Amino acid sequence: MNAKKVIIDCDPGIDDALALLLALHAPELEILGITIVCGNVPTTQGAENALKVLQFANRLDIPVYLGEAKPLQRDYVDAMDTHGSDGLGETYLPNVTQTRPHKDAISFLAKTLSQQTKVSIIALGPLTNIARLLQKYPNCLTGLDEFVTMGGNFKSHGNCSPVAEYNYWCDPDAAKEVYEAFTYNPLLKQKQIHMIGLDVTRKIVLTPNLITYMKFLSPRIGNFIQTITQFYIDFHWKQEGILGCVINDPLAVAYFIDRSLCHGFSAYTTIETEGICIGQTVVDAYDFWKKEKNSYILTQTDIFRFMEFFITKVFAVPSDTTRQMLQQILVVHTDAPLPQISQPCFSSVQTCERGVVL
Ligand code: BDR
Ligand code: CA
Repeated sequence: MNAKKVIIDCDPGIDDALALLLALHAPELEILGITIVCGNVPTTQGAENALKVLQFANRLDIPVYLGEAKPLQRDYVDAMDTHGSDGLGETYLPNVTQTRPHKDAISFLAKTLSQQTKVSIIALGPLTNIARLLQKYPNCLTGLDEFVTMGGNFKSHGNCSPVAEYNYWCDPDAAKEVYEAFTYNPLLKQKQIHMIGLDVTRKIVLTPNLITYMKFLSPRIGNFIQTITQFYIDFHWKQEGILGCVINDPLAVAYFIDRSLCHGFSAYTTIETEGICIGQTVVDAYDFWKKEKNSYILTQTDIFRFMEFFITKVFAVPSDTTRQMLQQILVVHTDAPLPQISQPCFSSVQTCERGVVL
């Protein structure tokens, strides 16, 4: 099999950790490096967490690089309320000592993308590293194949404000620059950003039943997943009234490997950088502005097939067995939206605007 070369840019982060776990178990991918951006946790903590996942998967051969420590223009606001003060659900797993993170993610990205061909980026955090890369080395992207980002929202409501998703809200200026680059940069004009936003990721809920099944399949991996997700599950119960946790980032990895897992449409997209709608993804779905279509917006996904994909890869079990069990666990197998909640999400002031008092 010809593995696809990929750099994973992320901010681990509980769901980033699950996305890394999936990528590390996918023979379809050759992971050239993991670059860290400030997001869920500060960059140094994110790098420690990436190394912990690599160590768990016995893949410390993959290099981790420290990227930007703050957004392009805004003050940095982490998401430790969601991911825990260590970013991995307050598990405080010991730091990895055998190897340490390398400096300068931007140089690594520039060098790799200019010296190699057919390298893709899967971005699972704020787009600060990618925007800096474009600012510093606008001509380095000759080797870029595809660009997938977990971020944004089209029709779904936000998770940081009524209209904004965290990754784009955390650094809206970076997100805007990256989307603009796919409109105007001659090296990128022919390409589109694949946007795996909340419209699809909200549907991916890791429930306690699924975790129990995972523990039967492999106590080692299942326990690891249970340990790092418990904080996240508690958060979802308190904030959204759901039993389980929305795992956004693994869907971007799964979609990168198997395009049939999500469907969408092409459009021109930009990001609001000011005012009460800061961080909002503005998708010109009806082509009002007649601009170059710089993005492919994913709006539909198959929950059942994603779970089957995740479990068969991470736990190395046959699809048939997984499918039978999922038919029992995922009783309602539809693409229906999550149940309506009786109170607004993110009711506390802190989570409502992540520290910004309205
Ligand atoms: C995104 O924000 C982060 O908290 C998650 O890791 C994910 O990348 C979801 O809005
Ligand atoms: Ca993330």
